Amino acid sequence: MKNILVTGAAGFIGSAFARYMVETYPHYNIVVLDKLTYAGNRDNLLSIDDEENYRFERADIADRGAVSRVLQQYDIDTIVNFAAESHVDRSILAPDAFVHTDVVGVYILLDEGKKHGIGRFLQVSTDEVYGDIESGLSVEGDRFLPNSPYAAAKAGGELMVRSYQVTHGMDTVITRGSNTFGPYQYPEKLLPLFITEAIDDRPLPVYGDGKQIRDWLYVEDHVTGIDVALHHGVSGEAYNIAGENTQFNIDVVHAMLDALGKPRSLIRHVPDREGHDRRYAMDASKLRALGWKRQWDWPRALQATVDWYLNNEWWWRKIKTGEYLEYFKRQYAERLASSSASE
Ligand code: NAD
Ligand code: TYD
Repeated sequence: MKNILVTGAAGFIGSAFARYMVETYPHYNIVVLDKLTYAGNRDNLLSIDDEENYRFERADIADRGAVSRVLQQYDIDTIVNFAAESHVDRSILAPDAFVHTDVVGVYILLDEGKKHGIGRFLQVSTDEVYGDIESGLSVEGDRFLPNSPYAAAKAGGELMVRSYQVTHGMDTVITRGSNTFGPYQYPEKLLPLFITEAIDDRPLPVYGDGKQIRDWLYVEDHVTGIDVALHHGVSGEAYNIAGENTQFNIDVVHAMLDALGKPRSLIRHVPDREGHDRRYAMDASKLRALGWKRQWDWPRALQATVDWYLNNEWWWRKIKTGEYLEYFKRQYAERLASSSASE
């Protein structure tokens, strides 16, 4: 590996990966390709802007001409694909962009990568492809049962990756991360939305009874998991990156409010998300066998996250304007109007 194309790295996890790779591997050239959708933000990459081994290109992964030009221009030998529409609620409101990026975009990247003769292609995927699991832990060989348009599009992207590995012998690896949190996460996902709303003493819209279960993974652990899979993963294999920290949503919200020093009276129970998966939980032993180890425990990671949003209002206040407010109104206005207080 020498010249690595990291797509979608103006977003939350991709930018953390790009910052980490630029610092950790000064002998690699890191080229970020990102469309800069509503979720893409050059501020996330400010800290590496002046680094010699980093370049930025604004393009759509589904734009064949642009992808081909970038692969040639930088003589790319490795692709790590983070680019995606990533929010379940938006996939319910407007699924088109999900199919465009998470399925067609992945196909274009693979197809151009094949033509260009790249080495490794790592696809960043999600535990949501397994769907709702009532008990136990999802392992990599489990069948896919995606329930949201987001999860279905990510599953479709994974299947394209599989087909290029089997049919064309491409060197591919897939990672499936669990619910990730930390600095620079767009404030539409549970934790950054609720932290920033709670800072302003605004109501927190918990879907349904709040007894849904997610497995919470700190972004830095997700990034090192991808690094391990990229360098040591076996071609054609998928690896779960699990936080092994499953919790009820309502407990996550309580812990966040305690870390922030805000009252539980901010919580509102609102009508549930359509098709809402009750539980995700994965087994991480396959990745651990490659040498990955989590570094962050939940209380420390949650406090670091809360503190980051408290100390970086410059980053999130300017996001919570314009299109964001329209989305917020569409998603929450009616729900909050018919909400009930908790506790
Ligand atoms: P994000 O929404 O914060 O960022 C997505 C990035 O992709 C943005 O910078 C956006 O501009 C870019 N993008 C979108 N469409 C594009 C296109 N057509 N061409 C080029 N760039 C495009 O997402 P995230 O939370 O950082 O997630 C990154 C990846 O990790 C996604 O593939 C997601 O499915 C996966 N994942 C996320 C989580 C999580 O909890 N956030 C968990 C597991 C897996
Ligand atoms: P989210 O951060 O959207 O991630 P995902 O849907 O990929 O798991 O949501 C995490 C959990 O929090 C999920 O069960 C839905 C719930 N949730 C709420 O209760 N209220 C909200 O406003 C949001 C955004 C999420």
